Amino acid sequence: MLLWLDLGLGAVAVASFVPLYLLVRVYQRRAVRVYAVRSTAIARVIVKFVETMNGIRPVRAFRREAVNDADFRILNQRHERSNGDALLEMARYVTGSRLVANTAVAVIVLWGASRVADGSLELGVLAAAVLYLRRLYDPIDRLGMFLNSYQSAAASLEKIAGLLAQTPSVPEPSTPVQLPALESEQPGREVVFDGVRFAYRTGGEVLPVFDLTLPAGQTVAVVGSTGAGKSTLAKLLARFYDPSDGRVLLDGVDLRELSGPELRRGVVMVTQEAFLFSGTVAENIAIGRPDAPREEIERAAKAIGAHDFISALPDGYDTDVRKRGGRISAGQRQLVAFARALLADPAVLILDEATSSLDVPGEQAVQRAMSTVLRGRTAVVIAHRLSTVEIADRVLVMEHGRIVEDGPPAELVAGTGRFSDLHRAWRDSLV
Ligand SMILES: Nc1ncnc2c1ncn2[C@@H]1O[C@H](COP(=O)(O)OP(=O)(O)OP(=O)(O)O)[C@@H](O)[C@H]1O
Ligand SMILES: [Mg+2]
Repeated sequence: MLLWLDLGLGAVAVASFVPLYLLVRVYQRRAVRVYAVRSTAIARVIVKFVETMNGIRPVRAFRREAVNDADFRILNQRHERSNGDALLEMARYVTGSRLVANTAVAVIVLWGASRVADGSLELGVLAAAVLYLRRLYDPIDRLGMFLNSYQSAAASLEKIAGLLAQTPSVPEPSTPVQLPALESEQPGREVVFDGVRFAYRTGGEVLPVFDLTLPAGQTVAVVGSTGAGKSTLAKLLARFYDPSDGRVLLDGVDLRELSGPELRRGVVMVTQEAFLFSGTVAENIAIGRPDAPREEIERAAKAIGAHDFISALPDGYDTDVRKRGGRISAGQRQLVAFARALLADPAVLILDEATSSLDVPGEQAVQRAMSTVLRGRTAVVIAHRLSTVEIADRVLVMEHGRIVEDGPPAELVAGTGRFSDLHRAWRDSLV
């Protein structure tokens, strides 16, 4: 319309697009950089904050407050600066584009006015041209705002895309296989490690060629020095990792061929951390079976000896574990984790140091709880405490990723190997 109204005035407006275009290009290139820096700076602030808050106990115990404060201040300042840089780029762009637009308006008004004065242009045409110019530059202003949000979002998206692009280390099978149905009298499932080798992505080989058969229903205790590979064995059996070579079989089916839900019904691992989710105690016990009726939840808690302390909580089973009054000790958390495992009723149960926070005076109770949980299933119990080993049918002693002793506890105690030494030292420590 501007060009049609008056070619000369229109040409001025069109010419202003050249500097505007250059401005957008420069801004875009700079914005990519400043927003990338800014999103990294935000990420660092968040990581530091979460890490400090999660580790607030050691932070206080080791008087790290001042150091953490200083670190946090530096990260915060970097974030502040990167935010300032981003705003500055934006401000430069907006100022620049307004300058170009207003210069064009000024040129058109001055030139147009002189032409109106000498009669070569009608006043109405000049007024129309100025009004059209407004309509032309308003969207360009808005384009700037849009570009800004777009660049900021693109920088964040890049971070999210990086996370989404992670390939899971344990992929779901494309055609999952069902486990054979459990016979009514079948005590758990058979576990076979068939020529398994394993190395974490970082570091050397943890399990060098590992063969092991656990018959259905057997309770196997695994002992060995720190770093021997016990937890690694457990994690392979729960398929938190896949072996680098060889297979882990559950009733003859490779774990890699089982669907996630099928695997979780088959194998459950209870660890030392015994994590509680926000929600009630009952909900925490029912994690593996959210639809379990209350009676079954209570029956599981009673069976492992957690019912008394749960009943003593302000709202019993309905106590929110994250709210005031719902504070639960480490040992109690482990009992909840046991009840959770009992209710989930897996064919194979792995306990990795799962009794380490339970009190020694309650050892008898712990033993009872353990035998209840382990009955009727294949169990792998990793324990530093040797009293828990005594309820096992079989003991494996691991060193450097290899099994160096294998046999019933009584037999190993009577022998002259590592386990009998360990056992003697433990007995001596008791008296
Ligand atoms: N996520 C990991 N990435 C790399 N290396 C690991 C990882 N987890 C464990 N390791 C290494 O694997 C080896 C075996 O560790 P593992 O946790 O299986 O030992 P463990 O027998 O359970 O010891 P502990 O009795 O202390 O629990 C160790 O040398 C350890 O450094
Ligand atoms: Mg371990």
